[in-house]
Amino acid sequence: MGKVHLDPQGFSLAGASALDDIGPHNPVESSAMIATPARPFADPAVVAEIDRLRRELHAVILAHFYQEPAIQDVADHVGDSLYLAQQAAATDAEVIVFAGVHFMAETAKILNPDKLVLVPDLTAGCSLADGCPAEAFAAWLAGYPDHKVVSYINCSAATKALSDIICTSSNAVRVVESFPPDQPLVFAPDRFLGRWVAKETGRPLVLWPGSCEVHEVFSAIRLEELREAHPDAVVAAHPECPEIILDQADHVGSTSSILAFARRTPAREIIVVTEAGILHQMQKENPDKALIPAPGADETCSCNLCPHMRKNTIAKLLACMRDRSPELTVDPALGRRAVVPLDRMLALSRQSPA
Ligand code: 13P
Ligand code: SF4
Repeated sequence: MGKVHLDPQGFSLAGASALDDIGPHNPVESSAMIATPARPFADPAVVAEIDRLRRELHAVILAHFYQEPAIQDVADHVGDSLYLAQQAAATDAEVIVFAGVHFMAETAKILNPDKLVLVPDLTAGCSLADGCPAEAFAAWLAGYPDHKVVSYINCSAATKALSDIICTSSNAVRVVESFPPDQPLVFAPDRFLGRWVAKETGRPLVLWPGSCEVHEVFSAIRLEELREAHPDAVVAAHPECPEIILDQADHVGSTSSILAFARRTPAREIIVVTEAGILHQMQKENPDKALIPAPGADETCSCNLCPHMRKNTIAKLLACMRDRSPELTVDPALGRRAVVPLDRMLALSRQSPA
């Protein structure tokens, strides 16, 4: 029997016989090769206090799929970037508690300038957003005066304000296709997502040279080895991965699209090439499938955990609701410019859901 490998979130991962290592007091009862919760994810007292504060504040808690399982489990809505932006746009809650990274909460604030937006950790950034500062972006755009600007939502409010339309990985293909075929386009800030969209749409895109520090370090060689070891497994990858990874994938898509693929595939083993937080929902939805997180190039690191997303913890979530701080703010004038390309994306998604 194999060994259980507990990742930092408390999952038991593929290839393991859970009972081998955990013992009779653990809730895990199956010896299937699945990612299985090996312990309760949140202290019930913490959950009860978050519930009390949620009622007191008239708050909605939005959480991304890359958040730790405890946060996902207390959230009102868990989803990808598009879904969370849509939820933020639609909510009638008085307070938005956003468990994700800065650009996600900032998007919620741009869409809701009059609401209080709280975040567990205000310093949770994103290498894509940080790698495309607005001043440098504006200077670069000056070289493409005839181009329309499509920006991935993983960017700052100031970079959004320089854009014609925003997209997420859920709707990037649709957004690019919404322009006339002869319209030259710039795509920023993720060059790997941009390259994938260019391939899918057959459109030449001028790419800003940004990348996600998590998705760019998955190892193509180690993925090949994993596929050889699991010949019946299918591979699902996020389009922020380099082409050499995407070429090995049976399915490429956003986090929600990867989850939909995992539900519908008849395969019993799925190699997952994105941030490991997604395994929580995937395992809940597919208790009988083996989920195999893809390795990074360096065996010693937890490369498939986003260091920014992981700054948020359930304790910090509780603290931000209790203290009404940290609050995310956006300069109102900047917000009025940034909301224009965001609204265009939301309108397009309403017309024909991505
Ligand atoms: P999704 O919109 O697919 O959830 O992606 C967000 C993200 O930050 C991926 O790294
Ligand atoms: Fe940004 Fe990458 Fe983290 Fe997503 S996984 S928030 S793109 S650094």
